[in-house]
Amino acid sequence: MKVNRLGLNPHINHEWVALAGFKIFLRNLPKAVGSVDPRVYFRDKKVLDVGCGTGTDMTRFQRLGAKVQGLDIHPTRPDIIFGRASSLPFPDASFDIVFSKFLMDLLSLVEIKAYAREAFRALVPGGKFIYFGLMVEEDANFLLTTARQAGFDRTYADEILTTFVMNKPKN
Ligand SMILES: C[S@@+](CC[C@H](N)C(=O)[O-])C[C@H]1O[C@@H](n2cnc3c(N)ncnc32)[C@H](O)[C@@H]1O
Repeated sequence: MKVNRLGLNPHINHEWVALAGFKIFLRNLPKAVGSVDPRVYFRDKKVLDVGCGTGTDMTRFQRLGAKVQGLDIHPTRPDIIFGRASSLPFPDASFDIVFSKFLMDLLSLVEIKAYAREAFRALVPGGKFIYFGLMVEEDANFLLTTARQAGFDRTYADEILTTFVMNKPKN
């Protein structure tokens, strides 16, 4: 596959959007978690990328020092696990971070509720459920309310409703 200087296929526009989204997510993260350097924040963290698509964000997290598992209903690589956001095939407390990008708008409200419960279950105490995507206010409020009902506290959303960070209490 022909790629450009950024390592992207110039004909796949989604990859550009995906990269831009990841950059905005990283820029917003310090406001949510209080850590300025993503290399420090993600180092050695176990990250689950739900709806990982082609897995480009998995590579980005790996570059930041994280140990990443990708999951998708249409796995595109052998190292990506088949699964649904609403029923994560992992034991309780398996991950420090459950992450998704550009996924919620593809899920029904019932699936979003189930996903929030599953993310809570799959996270360690103190773990973070992180979402990046473009959201209208109604959907953003639904996600934050649903997350709080699932047990998350200290929910964060940036002012233009792209970056959402929800904390699993330590005890
Ligand atoms: C718009 S793509 C985003 C891919 C990637 N996260 C990114 O930012 O480039 C959405 C992905 O979510 C996957 N997906 C859709 N519904 C899903 C579900 N219920 N559970 C897990 N993955 C799902 C799709 O197969 C697709 O790969």
